[in-house]
Amino acid sequence: MKLIIVGGDGFCGWPTSLHLSNLGHEVIIVDDFSRRRIDKELNVQSLTPIFELSERIEAWFELTGNVIRYVEMDISTKFDDLLNLLEEEKPDSIVHFGEQRAAPYSMKCTSTKNYTISNNICGTHNILNAIVESQRDIHLVHLGTMGVYGYGHEEPIPIPEGYLDVKIDTIDGREITDSIVYPANPGSIYHMTKTMDSQMFQYYAKNDKLRITDLHQGIVWGTQTELSSQDERLINRFDYDGDYGTVLNRFLMQATVGFPLTVHGTGGQTRAFIHISDTCKCIEQALIHPPTSGDRPLILNQMAETQTLSDLAKLVQSLTNCEISYLPNPRSEAERNDLNVRNDLLRSFGWEPTLIKDSLLQEITEITRHYSDRADHSKIPCVSYWTKNNEPADVSHRAENNEVAETIS
Ligand SMILES: NC(=O)c1ccc[n+]([C@@H]2O[C@H](COP(=O)([O-])OP(=O)(O)OC[C@H]3O[C@@H](n4cnc5c(N)ncnc54)[C@H](O)[C@@H]3O)[C@@H](O)[C@H]2O)c1
Repeated sequence: MKLIIVGGDGFCGWPTSLHLSNLGHEVIIVDDFSRRRIDKELNVQSLTPIFELSERIEAWFELTGNVIRYVEMDISTKFDDLLNLLEEEKPDSIVHFGEQRAAPYSMKCTSTKNYTISNNICGTHNILNAIVESQRDIHLVHLGTMGVYGYGHEEPIPIPEGYLDVKIDTIDGREITDSIVYPANPGSIYHMTKTMDSQMFQYYAKNDKLRITDLHQGIVWGTQTELSSQDERLINRFDYDGDYGTVLNRFLMQATVGFPLTVHGTGGQTRAFIHISDTCKCIEQALIHPPTSGDRPLILNQMAETQTLSDLAKLVQSLTNCEISYLPNPRSEAERNDLNVRNDLLRSFGWEPTLIKDSLLQEITEITRHYSDRADHSKIPCVSYWTKNNEPADVSHRAENNEVAETIS
């Protein structure tokens, strides 16, 4: 297949590009390098030393003889360039990772809220509009999030793969059944953009018969895949800061550098997880199993397992003997929730999920230990607050001093 990977320089996009190139697909990365720019804006860097995309691609060619091409382009503002690219390259599929993906960053301030909305909504719409204008049958595989379902249920309700079977009483006294899009319940501006993406997918599938797969992905953990470990120039990024660091990677990094694990709130929040190498495998499966008709998008829950944050923290503590800090929660979210997610469709394609207990934690611990001198401890606390009510009086002071509310061993 000929594939355009939007956001192929990012945490999920880079190892996926290697994975798909390794399988013999022709890969063209489109990226505006906004993620690297945001690192500079936040004055942080990936824990791992990531190379420029041109150097990564050159190293990949040296090692394998496989060519990955790339185009620098902001898909949210360069519609004509995007359309030209589709017309010139005639890809079979587009994999769309190219969005601002951190909930805390999206809640940081007015400008990051506005940026997240315009970047994510306009970017996704430009891709859909460009596929229609190109008049080509291009399958779009989009990285959505489990967060579109929300994290509000206390009861063990099964979360279906995007669509909910419902019974409706008609006004003439009958009961009919229907399958509706699972009600969206976003918990941040970032998550809201993903729910708005999914509305656009419904419309374009219905109106223009586009073939779209929306992958509702869990929180990704891990950093390296077998392919990215082959050469230091291929190393994947590792975010640990309060805005972009995802929970399990943050915990493991914190344990390595002796910073108490930061559990926000009670730790009773249940979230879904997937290992980075499974992200690559699931996208491969999504590409080879496109929806047959464009009437409605195919929605797959791309997650391996669910865990509460306090259980995760205790697991890391049992491995490393670290401390755990229970901090006031900067987010507006339920203190605890249940999460029972169906992933039958991806499993039916033969995918065997990697589970957290499968000892891969060792790999991250080695990475975090190896690069611990690059860690800036002042960047670990989350200093983006969901509401003014949550915000402490002096946020910068809290970040500088790594204040913790309560520390338990
Ligand atoms: N990392 C996770 O835990 C996770 C979980 C669920 C879903 N996702 C989704 O997966 C996708 C990739 O996440 P990630 O962790 O790799 O993020 P990332 O920030 O590391 O990568 C995103 C890439 O997209 C690029 N990009 C952003 N806006 C762009 C634009 N307008 N034009 C071109 N390129 C653009 C960035 O420069 C970056 O290289 C995101 O859509 C995210 O919402 C990620």
